[in-house]
Amino acid sequence: MGIFKDMLSGSETLFKNSVALDYDYMPKLMPFREQEQMRIAACIKPLFQNRNGRNLFIYGEPGIGKTAACRHVLSELEETTDDIFLVYVNCWKHNTTYKVVLKICDELGYKFTQNKKTEELFDIARDIINKKSAVFVFDEIDKAEETDFLYMLLEEIYRKSIILITNLKENLSGIDMRIKSRLTAELLEFRQYALDEVKEILKQRRDSAFYPGVWKDDAFEIVVAKTYELGDIRTGLYLMREAGNSAEDMSIKEIRAENVKAAIAKLDEFYIKERDDLGEDEQIIMRIIKEHSGEKIGELYRIYTEQGGKYTYKTFQRRISKLEQGKFVNLEKVAGGKEGKTTIVKDSSDAKLTEF
Ligand SMILES: Nc1ncnc2c1ncn2[C@@H]1O[C@H](COP(=O)(O)OP(=O)(O)OP(=O)(O)O)[C@@H](O)[C@H]1O
Ligand SMILES: [Mg+2]
Repeated sequence: MGIFKDMLSGSETLFKNSVALDYDYMPKLMPFREQEQMRIAACIKPLFQNRNGRNLFIYGEPGIGKTAACRHVLSELEETTDDIFLVYVNCWKHNTTYKVVLKICDELGYKFTQNKKTEELFDIARDIINKKSAVFVFDEIDKAEETDFLYMLLEEIYRKSIILITNLKENLSGIDMRIKSRLTAELLEFRQYALDEVKEILKQRRDSAFYPGVWKDDAFEIVVAKTYELGDIRTGLYLMREAGNSAEDMSIKEIRAENVKAAIAKLDEFYIKERDDLGEDEQIIMRIIKEHSGEKIGELYRIYTEQGGKYTYKTFQRRISKLEQGKFVNLEKVAGGKEGKTTIVKDSSDAKLTEF
């Protein structure tokens, strides 16, 4: 048909290295977060003198560098010493004590985890860790469905720093008293970036991701303004990628304001933060998930069509992925279904903060 031939003949690209726009890409520098990184490092410092470290509770709005700053400190630590184990756990992905303990074993390089119970695995991990010391980062801690692992670590690991990350300070008050009184965490707030800080951060990413000179100044300024308005650096990364794609689709060699505007128009479709921002269709799907949390995706689709839902199964699946991105639902792959695997969908607010 020649469609792809036409497409590829214009294969010149504006992107030098599009990976630099990935949300989890680690920028070489993290300007404007030096203080915060120093605070994190200070909590870990006692471990270097064979003493117990301090614990830290980090909070702040989405997309302002909490995860990135912690990972930065961990990677510097990794380069500095072999005497401290580093364990980073995203509690959104590893949301039960068993899963967290498995992840800890994995980070310690312990492979014989099959057919072992949580306690057994924890004892093995504890014995390994207690020969040295450890830093634990539990990111998105409010998404953990169980938090016994915190209690276990606090009680049984001699020398450690535990760092918890979440969006809201209030999430700390929901933590079980037994844990809280042992944790005695210091608080560290990540504040929002100022306009010129947003600009500088995005400039660095732009220059890593695109060939020099492809961005028109006015187009880039719109990206900066929109990102500042929404307060989330990921918005800027998303807009730069989409605007770049839009310019390539038009086969133009520069990224113009109109490309950014086209990207902004797509933003709403992609970027849902609050439950109230959900479209009507998503609200209906969310209500079904709420009523049948923990159900297989195929079954949810059956209920959806029974109630008059019009989406095809593919579209339904795509909506569910979107809800996952917005952190409204939690997906888990399990054995079963036609292809040997199926997805279990859970309402994310099921992981109650009071269970901390
Ligand atoms: N000071 C900075 N310098 C360079 N890049 C930054 C800076 N702050 C944030 N970023 C980038 O912004 C993006 C979002 O940051 P990050 O993932 O750390 O957000 P977060 O605060 O953990 O958000 P959430 O609460 O949603 O998890 C990442 O790609 C990160 O590299
Ligand atoms: Mg994060």
